[in-house]
Amino acid sequence: MIVIKNLSKVYHLKSGDVTALENVSMTVQEGEIFGVIGNSGAGKSTLVRCINLLELPDSGSVTVNGTTLFQTEENGTLVVLPEKELNRQRRQIGMIFQHFNLLDRSTVFDNVAYPLKYSGLTRKEIRRRVGELLELVDLKDKASVYPSQLSGGQKQRVAIARALANNPRVLLSDEATSALDPDATESILQLLEKLNRELGLTIVIITHEMAVIRAICDKVAVMEQGHVVECGDTYRIFSRPRAEITRRFVSSTSGFSQADKLIARWDEILAGKENGAFYLLLFTRDSLSQATVSRISREYGVDLDILLANIELLRGGSIGRMLVAASGNGESIQAALRDLKQHHVEVREVTGYAVD
Ligand SMILES: Nc1ncnc2c1ncn2[C@@H]1O[C@H](COP(=O)(O)OP(=O)(O)OP(=O)(O)O)[C@@H](O)[C@H]1O
Ligand SMILES: [Mg+2]
Repeated sequence: MIVIKNLSKVYHLKSGDVTALENVSMTVQEGEIFGVIGNSGAGKSTLVRCINLLELPDSGSVTVNGTTLFQTEENGTLVVLPEKELNRQRRQIGMIFQHFNLLDRSTVFDNVAYPLKYSGLTRKEIRRRVGELLELVDLKDKASVYPSQLSGGQKQRVAIARALANNPRVLLSDEATSALDPDATESILQLLEKLNRELGLTIVIITHEMAVIRAICDKVAVMEQGHVVECGDTYRIFSRPRAEITRRFVSSTSGFSQADKLIARWDEILAGKENGAFYLLLFTRDSLSQATVSRISREYGVDLDILLANIELLRGGSIGRMLVAASGNGESIQAALRDLKQHHVEVREVTGYAVD
């Protein structure tokens, strides 16, 4: 478990101070895949670098698996664990990066063996451990090649094997898939999910892509300008985003940013329709299987033209969104909408030109 409390960090530059983190607090439960999303400059990398003290924060505390790595005392001084103990704790935390950070002049085997150098293991034990790790990331046949001979996805697998060499309980991933194509991204995310499932590894994923969060995260914290603006269960964040920036992130992957184009043409689309209006329907895991638009349309004699629809698959369940143009008898439309609401479908009449 990782408990982060009131973490703050200001960079002092000639051009002025930059507040990278201001009173950031969050708790990552053991065995969780926890996402941190935010735009460029939001403070994500600073946060993750402060967790394992690659960066020294100004104040706050971080506790990993019950051991406090650093904390601010009442007089304001930051007290850090003694170096030897800190290094022992750091071995419990693996880290992977966007650009892999491999040793280019060393083979895959040597890259993975590198963190085991001072582990006290014999050569034979190291060989066995590296073999296990390469097997785990599906790169057994690449032990003797050099990083330049690997694809991006394979390089990231080597980096993951290296990060896991000392059996950490936590893996920090800073934009690990940002330099990869969609197929490689997918396979790395699947690998991370497997490591979480099979090893019980706690994973903190830093990303600027909501699709990464949607694919594997249990929880998510949304950061903006050094602050956590929203934090919660991924399913809740996707179905009911609260902060403005979270809404933007959600609509960037839901495909519903396109709804604006249709809404802008509503005069044309609704022309000649009796009581025509646009509605946005949100189907959650409570309503997806129960309420079908075709049944409602049939039962109430209401025309519901589906203009845009999608279903997103999340770890916690599915979310469906639909933009419909309804028309027919006014009372029947209202009765149909009430029926949908009774089946836990969120119904929103579109009255403006923007969809969030
Ligand atoms: N070493 C540094 N010296 C000075 N300022 C820094 C340093 N590192 C980060 N910053 C500043 O702190 C802020 C947060 O940066 P950070 O790298 O944490 O953002 P980020 O969310 O990881 O962004 P990105 O998505 O681009 O990686 C930015 O304004 C950045 O310019
Ligand atoms: Mg970053």
